[in-house]
Amino acid sequence: MYTSTVLSVLAVVSLATARPNAIRAPLPFPNGIGWDIVLQSKNLTLQELKDAPGPVIDIDLWDNYDRVSGRNNISELAKTKQVICYFSAGSREDWRPDAGEFNPEDYGKEMPEWDGENWLDIKSTNVRRIMTDRIKRAVEAGCHAVDPDNVDGYDEDHQDGYNYEPEDYAEYVNFLAQVAHENNLAVGLKNSLAIIDQVIDNVDFAVNEQCHEFDECDVYVPFTDAQKAVFSIEYLVKNCSQVEGVQLSEVFKTLDLNTTGGQC
Ligand SMILES: *[C@@H]1O[C@H](CO)[C@@H](O)[C@H](O)[C@H]1NC(C)=O
Ligand SMILES: *[C@@H]1O[C@H](CO)[C@@H](O)[C@H](O)[C@H]1NC(C)=O
Ligand SMILES: *[C@@H]1O[C@H](CO)[C@@H](O)[C@H](O)[C@H]1NC(C)=O
Ligand SMILES: *[C@@H]1O[C@H](CO)[C@@H](O)[C@H](O)[C@H]1NC(C)=O
Repeated sequence: MYTSTVLSVLAVVSLATARPNAIRAPLPFPNGIGWDIVLQSKNLTLQELKDAPGPVIDIDLWDNYDRVSGRNNISELAKTKQVICYFSAGSREDWRPDAGEFNPEDYGKEMPEWDGENWLDIKSTNVRRIMTDRIKRAVEAGCHAVDPDNVDGYDEDHQDGYNYEPEDYAEYVNFLAQVAHENNLAVGLKNSLAIIDQVIDNVDFAVNEQCHEFDECDVYVPFTDAQKAVFSIEYLVKNCSQVEGVQLSEVFKTLDLNTTGGQC
């Protein structure tokens, strides 16, 4: 017993020191820094991703690092870019390798526009354990930051079906931020405008969709004041205007997010 405990402790220690990010502090994402986002990259070559405009790229955590084969596009990109790794923190996507770890009571209402995706119970300890594992996977892959999506289930009159309030999601985002920082990763706030004041001190940047379209970019003044980047995506109209008091890092994309480019 004693021997095996010592051995497993040693194994854990050597794994930890092998992690590329173990001693690296989170990088800052200053106001206006250039970026690109490609969440479906399967039709692109690694070189095309490397050639994406700007020093920052936001890509899918799952599709770009394969633990079994060791193939890792993230660590390749991280040689020349700040890599933000995207995962869904507020939904279960039934095709992800860890989808089987969610208990049936962890997820509920389907997302109408996204096949195979259901809102999660953000208060479930099992859900939080899975998200902690995803953040550790991001460290292992060599990501600099994480972009946890779907943290606005309170919106549209409780679209998650759980009746959770903005405060509940703010607490969840602050939990994710704490775990990310403990693991030396930066972390962003995705959309979720109503909770900015409650999380701004704990997140390192924002990622927004369609703030020009909905005329709400001005809500990001606190991020710009705090010298934290606001990464913004428009889908319908290429709107490159800047809003007073807010410095946006803007891209114009198709909803598929399957190509590089489109910077303002
Ligand atoms: C990849 O290309 C095929 C053929 O053009 C297309 O049908 C598919 O939607 C593309 N996949 C992605 C993720 O863009
Ligand atoms: C991106 O997705 C669209 C719609 O599915 C498809 O028509 C297009 O070919 C895709 N682009 C690439 C580079 O795969
Ligand atoms: C890495 O990128 C290549 C080229 O785009 C792609 O074929 C591969 O599926 C990606 N994923 C991993 C885990 O290497
Ligand atoms: C572009 O964005 C600005 C600021 O967000 C907004 O006031 C304006 O209406 C937008 N223009 C178009 C054509 O959508």
